[in-house]
Amino acid sequence: MSKILAIETSCDETAAAVIEDGYQILSNVVASQIDIHRRYGGVFPEVASRQHILAIGTVVQDALIEARTGWNELAAVAVTYGPGLVGSLLVGVNAAKGIALSQNIPLIGINHLEGHLYSNWLDTDNRGQPPAQRFPTLCLIVSGGHTELVLIRHHGSYEILGRTIDDAAGEAFDKVARVLDLGFPGGPAIQEAAKGGNPTAFKFPRAKLGDSFDFSFSGLKTAVLRVAQKYTKVEKLRRPTREQKLQQKQAEYRQMPVADIAASFQMAVVDVLVSKTKAAAEKYNVAEVMLAGGVSANMLLRNKMMTALDRPVLVPPLYLCTDNAAMIGAAAHWRLQAGQTSGWDLDVVANLRLA
Ligand code: KG4
Ligand code: ZN
Repeated sequence: MSKILAIETSCDETAAAVIEDGYQILSNVVASQIDIHRRYGGVFPEVASRQHILAIGTVVQDALIEARTGWNELAAVAVTYGPGLVGSLLVGVNAAKGIALSQNIPLIGINHLEGHLYSNWLDTDNRGQPPAQRFPTLCLIVSGGHTELVLIRHHGSYEILGRTIDDAAGEAFDKVARVLDLGFPGGPAIQEAAKGGNPTAFKFPRAKLGDSFDFSFSGLKTAVLRVAQKYTKVEKLRRPTREQKLQQKQAEYRQMPVADIAASFQMAVVDVLVSKTKAAAEKYNVAEVMLAGGVSANMLLRNKMMTALDRPVLVPPLYLCTDNAAMIGAAAHWRLQAGQTSGWDLDVVANLRLA
């Protein structure tokens, strides 16, 4: 029995979890800051690090209490050290170092993207055994900061087959949501807005980029902006009052077919993600395909991926798609088994890559 305390503070969730033997979730505590950042229309880095400082102590305590685990039962402490917001990462890494030092247990630095991969290998159905791991595995990591197709030959062996050359998929969702005035975070808002819309109403571009497994979403984002602008050309007053400004915004919004734009945009993103993943799965003849990261919570993506592929497709439960510490603990388990622990010089890295 090996219990790992894991900490994740790379962006706007303060999270801690206790994971046993790499697959059992004894606790998984996430304090989300989304309500605080919503008023800025995105994550405000300085506010994020301050909130992490306020929350980290309680979140770690809660994770231990929920897991009915004492400090002296911990085999190691794992922490995300990058990629992410430097100030946010620092809070988690310093907390983890303090715990490792005071308990005299190993410290394990984990790459946030490697963590996302492992969100698929936790025992979320309480079967009492680890989920089957079938190598080689292909994983599509789609989050607010990343869009990567990763070939995993075995634990720790990652080959990046392709990645975005501009915006990440989640970033495109967030930016388009802002254009459509749907709020933050954009992914869930667009999914909701698209429900009553026609996904073929607008022919948005799908960047192929030849036979490569790279992605590009900036052209799509611009195409959505152009369409939206067509509907926002209501007559402008020279010196509108606040009241008039509000009325104008409402008039513009009423004219815009928001549901159709959202549905057509969502379909364009999903089409590209699915077709590239399918092509890579066939080329490398992988045993299974996994989705990970915030955008993998998207229902259209999950459904289309499962129907398009002729091999097993794993998707994490919704609560493990977005940032959490359970996935960090799962990734840390095999590193601990392999003796790959970190030194006290573990430092935060904003732009760390998986491979
Ligand atoms: O993995 P994550 O929590 O944080 C990062 O590491 O970036 O991903 C957050 C991203 C945001 O861009 C958010 O808009 C997107 O995931 N997202 C979604 C959905 N839920 C969250 N995108 C599309 N559909 C969703 N249902
Ligand atoms: Zn993430």
